[in-house]
Amino acid sequence: FSPRLLDRCRVLITAGPTYEPIDPVRGITNLSSGKQGFAIAKAAVLAGAEVTLVAGRTDLKTPAGVKRIDVTTAREMYDAVMHEVSQHEIFISVAAVADWRVANASDHKIKKEYAGTPDLIFEENPDILASVAALENAPYCVGFAAETDNLIDNARAKLFRKNVPLIVANLVSDAMNQDTNAVVFVERDAATPLAKATKEHIAQALIAKIAQEVN
Ligand code: C5P
Repeated sequence: FSPRLLDRCRVLITAGPTYEPIDPVRGITNLSSGKQGFAIAKAAVLAGAEVTLVAGRTDLKTPAGVKRIDVTTAREMYDAVMHEVSQHEIFISVAAVADWRVANASDHKIKKEYAGTPDLIFEENPDILASVAALENAPYCVGFAAETDNLIDNARAKLFRKNVPLIVANLVSDAMNQDTNAVVFVERDAATPLAKATKEHIAQALIAKIAQEVN
């Protein structure tokens, strides 16, 4: 693994879950440890890149040399990414972004004694990856797809919908809460499976693949 692969390239990465409040003590979120995204940030630094990591709530330690921006909600993640993106040549969207937020979230704790069962109204969150890919000076964009079935078909549909050249597809059962992962690099007309490996190894393989595509 060469320390020159992405020499001085600026790489923006999202990782971890977003959390959407219902009230000050309750919320909805996606399951994501942040491990794969943080491993990619670390691998990018090892490859010589300057790395900005926009992270949802996670207890993981910031890899050395990474500029980290902490966010909670999808809209905060969107704002942080849009603020940073023009300074970067590569965008890797690893975060598990909640598809919906609660439109009628309460500033005060909802008391079950008085309120009964609350009627939550959901609103769609912005698609961060699709928004970045649609920018006039878009960076090279990589997405992730966590699926429970029809892995490659679903990932390729995502690739076209979001208009990105590369989707890293994994099965939820292979990735969730584990230190290993089994992924497929899905492109317009190719699907390349990688052997099951640690998230560190997958991260290095992805950085090598991206370096090949952008250099
Ligand atoms: O549409 P879906 O959530 O399955 O797509 C997954 C990919 O899109 C991931 O790369 C994820 O980080 C990104 N995404 C995003 N903003 C959203 C939803 C997903 O950037 N609101």
